[in-house]
Parts: sequence; C-alpha cells; structure tokens
Amino acid sequence: MSESVRLDKYLADVGIGTRSEVKNYIRKGRVQVDGVIVKESDMKINTKTSSVLFDNTRVAYETYEYFMLNKPAGVVSATRDNVNTTVVELIREGTCKGDDSEVESFVIKDLFPVGRLDKDTEGLLLITNDGDLAHRLLSPKKHVAKIYFAQIKGKVTMDDVRVFKEGIELSEDFTTLPAELKIIESDEALESDELSEVEVTIFEGKFHQVKRMFEAVEKEVIYLKRLSMGELVLDKDLNPGEFRRLTPEELSKIKGTK
Ligand code: URA
Repeated sequence: MSESVRLDKYLADVGIGTRSEVKNYIRKGRVQVDGVIVKESDMKINTKTSSVLFDNTRVAYETYEYFMLNKPAGVVSATRDNVNTTVVELIREGTCKGDDSEVESFVIKDLFPVGRLDKDTEGLLLITNDGDLAHRLLSPKKHVAKIYFAQIKGKVTMDDVRVFKEGIELSEDFTTLPAELKIIESDEALESDELSEVEVTIFEGKFHQVKRMFEAVEKEVIYLKRLSMGELVLDKDLNPGEFRRLTPEELSKIKGTK
C-alpha cells in the first residue's frame, strides 16, 4: 500500500463517505491535517505519519488494528446488537490501556471479535479488522487450542478427565477432539463441597462447547473464563472490560499460527 495518497481518497478509503461526499466535507472545513483545517482535496497525505481529523475525531487509515479485551460478563460477542452492549462497542467507546495518543477516539472500520464467547463468559477476546488472521485462527482445520478456567457445580473426577480425553459426542455428527481437563480444586479443598475448579483445553469452538461437554458428564458450568487462544494469553493486568493493543511480540506469535 502506497504511503502517499490524496486527502479525498484517504477519507473515502476509511469509509467517511464517497469521493464526492468527502470533497464536500473538505470544502466545508470539517477536515484537519496535522492540526490545520485543509480545504484542498488533492493534498497529499502520508498514511503512516499524517494526523487526519474528521469532525475533530482522529481517522485511522486502513491499517490493521488488534486489541486484546478481557470480556466482561453481560456483553455480547458481536459488532451490533439491538439490546445488549457489544464487545466492539466496548472498544469504540472505551479507553485503550497504555495508549498515550492524545486523541482517544479513533474511527476504525470493520472491527469484529475473533470468535464468540457466551454472554456470561469472561476472558480473552481478540478484536480486529484483519479478516485473514481471524480466518486462520478460527479455521476448524487448524485446531487452535483454547484454554478456559471454569467453576463447576459438582465434584469433577478422574473419570471425567478420562471422558474428556477420549473426546465427547456432542451431537450425531460431532465428537470433540480429545480435550485436556485439569482439576485444580475439587470438593474437599473448596469451601463448598459442590464446587470444582478446573482448566480445560479444547481444540474447536462449537457453540457452548465447554458447557455442553460438562453437561455430557452431568455437571454444570457456573463460571467460565477464557485464558488463552493459541499463543495469545490473557494479560492478568486487564480487568474485565479493559483492553489494550497487542504487543508486536504477541502479534508475530499469532500471525505465525500455522
Ligand atoms: N464454551 C462455552 O460453553 N462457552 C463459551 O463462551 C466458550 C466456550
């Protein structure tokens, strides 16, 4: 992608409007470049270094953005929803941790969550506009490992560990790959004799998969949190609802996902 582009093309590319609409906006003085109102549509913009504002909001050029969100319960894994707050709204309306940019509100086209967590599930969710990467991470053929922490109603046993390891038939046409179930605390060690704490690793991402796997051994998930997805590990410093950009190291690790 060329680093130098006309201002009207730049604004059209990021989705502000059609070429003629943005020319009109520019004429009306709604666009600033590097702090100055600009009225020439053919001004050359450096896509890497120029700071472009539309109606005082920073416009990010078509670069890819990658955010790690600690999804809180009560928020849905979608871009838009008529009833619930969505994870993409959290990113658009929240403050990015560690981002020292003076302008906090970015116009970023096409952000979406990579995969879904249930409304009541917390934890790691990658939000991006990089469709190719999302496709690779979600492809059923890649068997990307996802690790969850879960609290389970009932005593999780070594029998359950064995059943998970064999793979569980969740429907007529779907049996999970062997999953790893690690018992952290079960029964005696916990205050309630009806709770177990486990870590479970699965290699697919079927709807309600972890909950359905525990149902198959007659137990109920009462709390679920995703800790990792492939090489990407939830940052312990992110509280539920907080997010930050991926580091270059994290990005190169997940881009290396075969
Ligand atoms: N499995 C579930 O049951 N729910 C989730 O949100 C993720 C995995």
